[in-house]
Amino acid sequence: MDHGYKILGSFEDLFSQDITGKLFLLTMGDMRIRKDLTDRIYSRGGIIPTLIHPTARVSKFAHVSQNGVLIAPNCIVQADVTIADGVVMRDQALICHTTNIESFVFIGPQALVGALLNIKEFVFIGQKSLLISKKAKIIGPNSIVGAGSVVTKSFESGTTVIGNPAKLLETKGTSTEVNP
Ligand SMILES: CC(C)(COP(=O)(O)OP(=O)(O)OC[C@H]1O[C@@H](n2cnc3c(N)ncnc32)[C@H](O)[C@@H]1OP(=O)(O)O)[C@@H](O)C(=O)NCCC(=O)NCCS
Repeated sequence: MDHGYKILGSFEDLFSQDITGKLFLLTMGDMRIRKDLTDRIYSRGGIIPTLIHPTARVSKFAHVSQNGVLIAPNCIVQADVTIADGVVMRDQALICHTTNIESFVFIGPQALVGALLNIKEFVFIGQKSLLISKKAKIIGPNSIVGAGSVVTKSFESGTTVIGNPAKLLETKGTSTEVNP
């Protein structure tokens, strides 16, 4: 048992069954694992619906993918925001207007993602971080924004940034900071 729910079996048990048309909720924070499982579920005909908590406020002018997005309690999504497949927004996160969130981005609790930004796929935005409108224009794919960071400019792929103002902690890709 886990939190009162009976554990029915492993993933292998699951994928040995016919899951056509069955609904799934994925709760893990590791977005690579989430993506792998998503692919496996879709390829076998399963469905991962987008779930938006009733206390979240999502503008009718926002565009939220119907595939596997999770928007937790008290989040706010403003107008002209685009949210792609598999994005997770944890509690009280806020995305300001005209910002584009690519697939499998994780946005931690109470993070504030400013307006007119472009957050590329698999970016991890730590809890209570602040990405300043217009200034943090592009956060490159697979980058990590440390908890509580204040991001005042763009960063390219595979970077981890921390602090106020956010500075590079390490670079996993070949690229470094890009022009703000
Ligand atoms: C940025 C982060 C990924 C770095 O983790 P890490 O690679 O294990 O790095 P370390 O913990 O070894 O820290 C390296 C250095 O950066 C500092 N540091 C780490 N995270 C920091 C942060 N968010 N802000 C400021 N400094 C930070 C550490 O103090 C350490 O400094 P030192 O070398 O002077 O001692 C992690 O600290 C973090 O912020 N994760 C986000 C967690 C989160 O928001 N989760 C959401 C869950 S719902």
